Amino acid sequence: MKINKMLSTAAALASTVTVFASVFALPAFADEDAELVINGEIEIVTKTAAPAHLDGHLSEIMSGWRFRSDDTQAMEMDDFDNPGMLGAEAGFDQFETVMGSEGKSCMDCHDGVESLANVRPTYPKWNDDKEQVYTIQMQINDCLTEQMGADAQKYDSGMMLNFEAALASVSRGMPMNVAIDGPAQSTWEQGKEMYYTRYGQLDLSCANCHEQNYGNMIRADHLSQGQTNGFPTYRLKNAKLNGAHSRFKGCIRDTRAETFNAGSPEFVALELYVASRGNGLSVEGPSVRN
Ligand code: HEC
Ligand code: HEC
Repeated sequence: MKINKMLSTAAALASTVTVFASVFALPAFADEDAELVINGEIEIVTKTAAPAHLDGHLSEIMSGWRFRSDDTQAMEMDDFDNPGMLGAEAGFDQFETVMGSEGKSCMDCHDGVESLANVRPTYPKWNDDKEQVYTIQMQINDCLTEQMGADAQKYDSGMMLNFEAALASVSRGMPMNVAIDGPAQSTWEQGKEMYYTRYGQLDLSCANCHEQNYGNMIRADHLSQGQTNGFPTYRLKNAKLNGAHSRFKGCIRDTRAETFNAGSPEFVALELYVASRGNGLSVEGPSVRN
């Protein structure tokens, strides 16, 4: 069986790769039955039936929130306790700030962040003009450079993540619903292939950890399904908002592999595929994780 092979591979490496000495132990705790309601009013679907394309792989999909400790879970239940909401507030301010040579703010063309509530659940999404799959950050960079005469921002930079946090915050509770057919399909297939590719000295794929071993412990971490419905995530580990691509990068690096850069076409494809594995979970960002 695949898992046994993986475990023995990992075990064989354990003597040299000490970080992974205790790969996949049973969980020390389980918070998988808690329910998430934000501010006592926004009901978040953190567990639901898997989308049809996951037949044979997963029957249920679960937000990473379910795998966090009680304390970390609680931080997301109230906006005053969620440090990621400071980023969202900064994003709302940025939205009204004039930037670039045209003297415009986002508000000149968009009716406020709330008017873009359908964005977070449906991105990454095919962009007809650019003939490629676009992430939210790619779209914002186009608006900055082409519409406002402002500088492009680095992928997963503070400003970009603040915009993303503001956009996510107005979509909380809406189901993730990225399109995987039509012109986006070949990008989705590329992302799917990456998801099942084994990386690095540990020879582990995303699926080895997040599909076959979620619920188990890896080092001190309770493994989730690696869903992206909570992005951007405020991580207690680095005390800031984190983008999905930066997370992918960290996960691949943990397998001791060369990785791709945030904003690379590879990670755009992977983001689309991973997002589609969460179709049906609520948008939850900015979320809190460890
Ligand atoms: C060696 C095991 C391992 C591999 C391989 C791995 N990850 Fe992870 N990943 C983790 C751990 C541990 C965490 C933190 C705990 C958690 O949420 O699962 C994590 C977290 C994540 C998260 C954040 C989930 C959340 O709710 O915030 C995402 C997204 C993710 N991984 C995606 C991926 C993708 C995509 C790949 C393949 C490129 C991958 N991971 C490969 C171990 C792994
Ligand atoms: C001068 C007008 C203009 C300004 C200023 C502008 N945008 Fe846009 N924006 C557009 C147009 C036009 C589109 C649709 C374009 C397209 O589909 O390529 C768009 C699309 C978007 C979308 C995707 C909407 C969707 O439904 O898919 C987002 C998100 C967005 N803009 C965010 C921003 C942000 C954030 C700012 C400020 C940094 C901004 N825009 C500034 C004109 C503007």
